[in-house]
Amino acid sequence: MKKERSNDSERIKEWRFACFLFAVYWGVLLLMSGLHSGLIVMMEKLQWNAYIKSTAPILYWGMVAVGLTLFARQKIKSTYAEPLHKMAEATRKVAEGDFSVYVPTVHTADRLDYLDVMILDFNKMVEELGSIETLKTDFISNVSHEMKTPISIIKNYAQLLRAGMASEQQEKEYAKEIENAASRLSSLISNILKLNKLEHQRIMPEAASYDVCRQLCESVFLFEDAMEEKEIALEADIEDVAMVRADASLMELVWNNLLSNAVKFTERGGTVTIRQTSDENGIRISVTDTGCGISRENINHIFDKFYQGDTSHATEGNGLGLALVKRVLELMDGEIQITSEEGKGSTFLVVLPAAESES
Ligand SMILES: Nc1ncnc2c1ncn2[C@@H]1O[C@H](COP(=O)(O)OP(=O)(O)OP(=O)(O)O)[C@@H](O)[C@H]1O
Ligand SMILES: [Mg+2]
Repeated sequence: MKKERSNDSERIKEWRFACFLFAVYWGVLLLMSGLHSGLIVMMEKLQWNAYIKSTAPILYWGMVAVGLTLFARQKIKSTYAEPLHKMAEATRKVAEGDFSVYVPTVHTADRLDYLDVMILDFNKMVEELGSIETLKTDFISNVSHEMKTPISIIKNYAQLLRAGMASEQQEKEYAKEIENAASRLSSLISNILKLNKLEHQRIMPEAASYDVCRQLCESVFLFEDAMEEKEIALEADIEDVAMVRADASLMELVWNNLLSNAVKFTERGGTVTIRQTSDENGIRISVTDTGCGISRENINHIFDKFYQGDTSHATEGNGLGLALVKRVLELMDGEIQITSEEGKGSTFLVVLPAAESES
């Protein structure tokens, strides 16, 4: 809170009704009293009657007061009323769901006052609200899109089966397609549920010290068949034991996702390498593949939900794997770094805090 306040005072360059107003009033009053003295002298000289002599200064100062009031009114209008009117208008639009509004500041960046700072914060708030809204609608349209494909596959093959025209061999094929589509649907739903749960989780659950090397071996074992099928060679260079403090069931998601990507995006005959080392900064685990690699533009998006850069593999998976990996590592105080070269391969490096040795 304190920091915010000092930030505000740094951002505010000018205060409303600054010294110049005092100078204006002072100057005007000095000038007017000079003219007042001149008026008195003139009336004496011209020997006007007593009635005019007494009412003229009252009228004169009345006009001065009207002038100053009009000036102050104009100043209040341009300083407060107009920007506040624009703000009120913008607030009404936001309340109606229009997040495209933008209120311009009254002054330039080098002369911001507190109202300008308030306007800037308002614009920022509207922008954030707008992006949350877009994320929500994007998320819903992505989920609907991802669900539509397997559902229509299931529907089409079920129709073919019901028609009863297929041979026994074809029936088996159709049943296999239905099974695949159903498992794709179920993995989509379970990934969405996991992501949703992790996104609302602030504290690390069930963190315990465990041997990550053993867990890596178990994960690799799950992909043995897939690697064999694609004739992918596996190289592993890991220590015998490396203790980390994390939630083992969540970390399993990380290794499974990284390995599944490595296998999926590596062509037949490629190599997947797993390396693990320990140093004073923690436990470092890297998964390297000799696959298609990721372009510079795509690298910035691969952790976004539903993002699938490589369209040729878009039928496999839903683009939620790395979003899950990122969220799990955030909860585990871990880090992930990527190096990739298009056409050559990628390395995903995970750094985890080591478990404190029990002595
Ligand atoms: N090892 C890799 N090599 C090349 N591209 C990769 C690799 N890992 C991820 N990517 C790119 O990042 C995108 C997002 O990966 P992510 O794991 O989130 O989704 P996915 O694997 O397509 O689907 P899912 O993980 O839900 O099964 C992938 O579609 C791909 O374009
Ligand atoms: Mg994946």
